[in-house]
Amino acid sequence: MKDPVRIAITGAAGQISYSLAFRIASGDMLGKDQPVILQLLEITPAMDALNGVVMELNDCAFPLVQDIVASDDPNVAFKDADFALLVGARPRGPGMERKDLLEANAAIFSAQGKALNDVASRDVRVLVVGNPANTNALIASCNAPDLDAGQFTAMMRLDHNRALTQLAQKTGKHSTDVESMIVWGNHSATQYPDLAHCKVDGKPALELVERDWYENDFIPTVQQRGAAIIKARGASSAASAASAAIDHMRDWALGSDGIVSMGIPADGSYGIEPGIMYSYPVVCKDGKYEIVQDLAVDDFSRERMTATENELREERAAVEHLLG
Ligand code: NAI
Repeated sequence: MKDPVRIAITGAAGQISYSLAFRIASGDMLGKDQPVILQLLEITPAMDALNGVVMELNDCAFPLVQDIVASDDPNVAFKDADFALLVGARPRGPGMERKDLLEANAAIFSAQGKALNDVASRDVRVLVVGNPANTNALIASCNAPDLDAGQFTAMMRLDHNRALTQLAQKTGKHSTDVESMIVWGNHSATQYPDLAHCKVDGKPALELVERDWYENDFIPTVQQRGAAIIKARGASSAASAASAAIDHMRDWALGSDGIVSMGIPADGSYGIEPGIMYSYPVVCKDGKYEIVQDLAVDDFSRERMTATENELREERAAVEHLLG
């Protein structure tokens, strides 16, 4: 039997975690032969609800679960964590401006970045799901000077998966027939789902769909999918977000099947200068991700890649004073 790995989940009494924690516990993230210790973080007022989640996790008698820790102290929940899924965040309240939201979350993610820096495994892999995910990931990484910035990532996989299915349905194929999908930039309505390099069943996607569908249907549908779910369900994406978080972490740890999209520190690749967490096409192998280089970028793509980059730079400017 392998040694257990420690997996921290924040916002563990929330709706995403109500799917995420159970799927991780059942082995969906790291495999059915990898024992896990769950380390669950909540804010103090949600500890009763979290204890209910722990009771239910116990009631599943999951073979892989070795221990469950529930705490309202990040220094306890992140202790020796090998993986940290930062899901908990402050939602936008009535009358709250975008700047207020960024600041409220900046306070949370700077404290959690510091705690990860102090107590997590030196090899911890961090995925930020809580919105604004890219900028929250940036804040956490800037507050963790002893960890590599590349250990912090933001979740773009839900956008990536949404794009896969939209294209598969349009072309009458399965999502597994689609390769080299890319979503660039921010997890927001400015994200750019790019079909320029994408293939379906080995054929260029842009030869299979009309240009008008790509520009005026596909791109806005993927960009606005979160809002469409809220309208239909009366609540934001939860099980699909949990599934995407599992895909992201599994691929990072165990390797990806081709290109996937991850929000990672910009390093100048594709002209995106450092200082923001930008979603790039990556391939994961041997526990690491690497940006896929040298893809051609035409004017249509460049304009959209720059628009989403500019939004991330504006978000950064709003929290500059909290970047440590
Ligand atoms: P939720 O409101 O159901 O749960 C969030 C939980 O986080 C709550 O239980 C709350 O008490 C907890 N929390 C708040 N501050 C915390 C802190 N400082 N430490 C620990 N826990 C804290 O929200 P839900 O639906 O689970 O979504 C969580 C976040 O994920 C939201 O910010 C949402 O916008 C974001 N999201 C991101 C997606 C992405 O693709 N990146 C997709 C879907 C949601």
